[in-house]
Amino acid sequence: MRPTDLIKLKETGHPITVLTAWDGLTASIVEAAGADIVLIGDSLAMVALGHATTLPVTLDQMLHHTQAVGRGLQRSLADQPLVICDLPFLSYQCGEDKAVAAAGSLLKKSCAAGVKLEGAEPEVIAVINRLVRMGIPVMGHLGLTPQSVHRMGYRRQAEDTLSQEQLIKQAKQLEDSGCFAVVIEHVPAGLTKRLRPQLKIPLIGIGAGNDCDGQVRVTADLLGLTPKQPPFSPALIAGRDLFINALKDWVSQQHKKEEFPTKGINQPKPDC
Ligand code: KIV
Repeated sequence: MRPTDLIKLKETGHPITVLTAWDGLTASIVEAAGADIVLIGDSLAMVALGHATTLPVTLDQMLHHTQAVGRGLQRSLADQPLVICDLPFLSYQCGEDKAVAAAGSLLKKSCAAGVKLEGAEPEVIAVINRLVRMGIPVMGHLGLTPQSVHRMGYRRQAEDTLSQEQLIKQAKQLEDSGCFAVVIEHVPAGLTKRLRPQLKIPLIGIGAGNDCDGQVRVTADLLGLTPKQPPFSPALIAGRDLFINALKDWVSQQHKKEEFPTKGINQPKPDC
């Protein structure tokens, strides 16, 4: 699958599925589940690295995780899902040259075939134009953009008519700049319904209603693994409880066994 193939999927009405992965294990699971796209989202800062926001994750860390995802994919190259990596905070906000170097290094050193970045401010549009001209496929991201959490919080975006018109304009600018798809996060479903037919490129939603060309989810949220579940992205299973209970059973079984190491027996002396 190539980024350009996604437009054909939109035209034929095939719903596009995007799931995040952050290491080899999650990549192999997401691939086996049949996702069209594996996204190494910067949400891994929170999901895998324990940060409170997505801001701290670095380009080197995104590369490290994307390389692990590449090693985890099991299918032959031709059959693998499309791999897209998020450009982390400050890797594209400081000018076009820096953005090309950041995105280029991800494509050069990992299996990523494209990058995703947030927003559609004039500076971001200039960056997207340049990346696309340099041969780097770009996915846009509008609505709730977590790298702007200190400005917009995690609230639903585009609630009023004016901001809805602005978002529609921005989505068209992303398309005109050469983005191959746009993620739209946590906005009213009615807005997505209006926007979708106005774009030739796929509109991929999360917390944006069903009228999208595809859906993206943070895999840890979908599996109910995250301690703090986003309200707009419900879990399919209570994965965290399932895992904890299975492991609790194992721990208590081990405690019952006689051969389980008992405190004080064969313990090395503290200075050994
Ligand atoms: O970082 C991420 O996982 C994302 C998705 C929520 C779209 O950007």
